[in-house]
Amino acid sequence: MKVLHDDCLTLLPTLEEDSVQLVYLDPPFFTQKEHFLRTRDNSTEYSFKDNWRSLEEYLSFMQNVLSQCKRVLKKSGSIFFHCDKAAAHHLRVLLDSVFGSKNFQSEIIWAYKRWSNTKKGLLNSHQTIYFYSKSADFKFNTIYTAYSPTTNIDQILQARRRNGFGKVVYHRDEEGQVILAKEKKGVPFSDVWSIPFLNPKAKERVGYPTQKPILLLERIIQISTDSGDTVLDPFCGSGTTLVAAKLLGREYIGIDSSIEAIRLAEKRLTEPVKTDSQLLFTGETSYLEKTDYERAILKSIDALPVERNSGIDGFLRSYIEGSPVSVRIQKQNEDLETAKQKLLRASQSKNCAVMILVRTHRTTEWLNYAQEEPKIMIIDSYDLVIEEWLERRKTIEVTSADK
Ligand SMILES: C[S@@+](CC[C@H](N)C(=O)[O-])C[C@H]1O[C@@H](n2cnc3c(N)ncnc32)[C@H](O)[C@@H]1O
Repeated sequence: MKVLHDDCLTLLPTLEEDSVQLVYLDPPFFTQKEHFLRTRDNSTEYSFKDNWRSLEEYLSFMQNVLSQCKRVLKKSGSIFFHCDKAAAHHLRVLLDSVFGSKNFQSEIIWAYKRWSNTKKGLLNSHQTIYFYSKSADFKFNTIYTAYSPTTNIDQILQARRRNGFGKVVYHRDEEGQVILAKEKKGVPFSDVWSIPFLNPKAKERVGYPTQKPILLLERIIQISTDSGDTVLDPFCGSGTTLVAAKLLGREYIGIDSSIEAIRLAEKRLTEPVKTDSQLLFTGETSYLEKTDYERAILKSIDALPVERNSGIDGFLRSYIEGSPVSVRIQKQNEDLETAKQKLLRASQSKNCAVMILVRTHRTTEWLNYAQEEPKIMIIDSYDLVIEEWLERRKTIEVTSADK
């Protein structure tokens, strides 16, 4: 296991030929800028330069790196090249020329959620990882994922075939009995990977610019290597690949031209920390805590739900008087005064000129809050309006029957 400090073009030629099972590269992407980041405690700033005189200079450097990577790879080995829209199209052509287009295996799209809307145009929320093998005889471990909720499992358990009209039908034996299909293990991993970006508070975040999630590297290592195989990262940065390799019982070699990055990688390797992504393990909907009833109310006033906030349930989609409008739905067993106080407190930092409190049930109190708190508009939920109307009608019917 080695963590080496120098230019990878100097060190790669010193590595043994046919010795590595997997090369993962996360090099500068040709962004033409310097990347900076400070650690959470603000004590250190890490940076690396991604400035080039020209695209030709960048591609020529990459060509040299790739030729060396090919040399050190075993015949059964694979290379995963991480890049983004800055130069992905050029790098694909380069990889074809070094490894041969027949050894292209996949274009992996690493997709993640982003919320910024400052730039005109489509929000960029993916990066690309090109997967090439050194030969046709490459190591690959298929990993299966669960079927989607819309898959009808009992249907896929039965074998199917095309009938004389080319239509797919269930396969039955001569006695008309159902023939079972081959054992199903799930759906093999696709080439679109939804893995959350490391959030600023993630335990594994060490403050290195463009640090990748360990989960992403674990997936690459698991599909392309077995325990004991060697993984090489010639641009290891904070050592994410090395940490993932160590956690999975693989040998590793990391190279970086920045001594700060090497020190950081060494430190991480002494005590590997990995953030478990709640989002991945429990699914995206696990974060949603609003009931269907609350969602229906928010929808009826064109408000977007807010999760995990004890005072605010949503915000109107449109601003009023240039400010956001917070919404609270009165909870069961909650009087209006309590609901109002919670809404006011939670909205304090949001600069709301208007707040909406949705009354969901009648309480003994009914004060004129609109006058008392001019910023809060109190409205009734539809079911309460209906309930009250029905009751009023009953009273009218009873009174007219009495007459
Ligand atoms: C995108 S970062 C890698 C981040 C890493 N994957 C992580 O998760 O922390 C690219 C790294 O390449 C290093 N680098 C740039 N040019 C290099 C070169 N010629 N040889 C070795 N490392 C280089 C930079 O110092 C930087 O750490």
